[in-house]
Amino acid sequence: MPIGVFDSGVGGLTVMREIMRQLPEEDILYLGDTARVPYGIRSAGTIIKYSLEMADFLVGKGIKLLVVACNTATAFALNAIKSRLDIPVVGVIEPGVKKAITTTRSKRVGIIGTEGTIRSNSYVHAINALYGNKPVTIKEHGTIRYDRYFEVCLDDLIIFTKACPLFVPLAEEGWASNDVAVLTARHYLEGLKKEPIDTLVLGCTHYPLLKDVISEVMGDGIVLIDSARETAGDIKETLVRLGIRRLTASAPRRMFYVTDAPERFIKVGERFLEQDIEHIEKIDVTDR
Ligand code: DGL
Repeated sequence: MPIGVFDSGVGGLTVMREIMRQLPEEDILYLGDTARVPYGIRSAGTIIKYSLEMADFLVGKGIKLLVVACNTATAFALNAIKSRLDIPVVGVIEPGVKKAITTTRSKRVGIIGTEGTIRSNSYVHAINALYGNKPVTIKEHGTIRYDRYFEVCLDDLIIFTKACPLFVPLAEEGWASNDVAVLTARHYLEGLKKEPIDTLVLGCTHYPLLKDVISEVMGDGIVLIDSARETAGDIKETLVRLGIRRLTASAPRRMFYVTDAPERFIKVGERFLEQDIEHIEKIDVTDR
């Protein structure tokens, strides 16, 4: 059976690209909610409702494992999806968090993501779960929306979280390395840059495309954690542990479903996937 992967739109293709790299033999069904993207600005209830519909559609197609390849959907809906399904479900937050904790030497970690992901504090909760649920104190920095960031202290670890919403349209527009991207990154990251962080988690599907600009703005000493890469590693480990890896030598099957505008998905998505997108179908997840 294939692996099912869903995202609010094209972003999850950065996760699919990594799955294809680390598990090239696997069949994959990808579902992008292009009719209702972005999830990053929506309320918890809406994100949970959409995510459950997306999960149900893929499960209906017969999948062996579900990847919630959207940080915002993982932040709000992972638990609801896990309690609904009886197949393994992998989100994109925990893998990045595990890597960040083992990477940081200064015990100062930055997390960037959509407004929703940052507001949910899911990264903080996931880190704190590994840290033994320590008491948390939160301090707010900055005065206006674009320069506001949060400092969260857990024991000896300090996490700085910052929403960078404009990175999503920049990546989709193909403006991932021009002067607009550099200026935007400078504005968003100026606060985190002053903090003594040595590790920065790219907590959104789109941010790996802006890696070069983010790294240039943050400076050489900062390790960027790509959640997509860590998640693919976790998927591989889960498939091996459960003995459900695909072992056939025949060419793998890749199928794409979108809830709207397949032409735009192909145009933008091929840049994210770094491959041609064939076999695409427009579907309605609410029509069940
Ligand atoms: N896929 C979303 C995420 O990783 C970004 C786009 C959106 O806001 O829907 O959070």
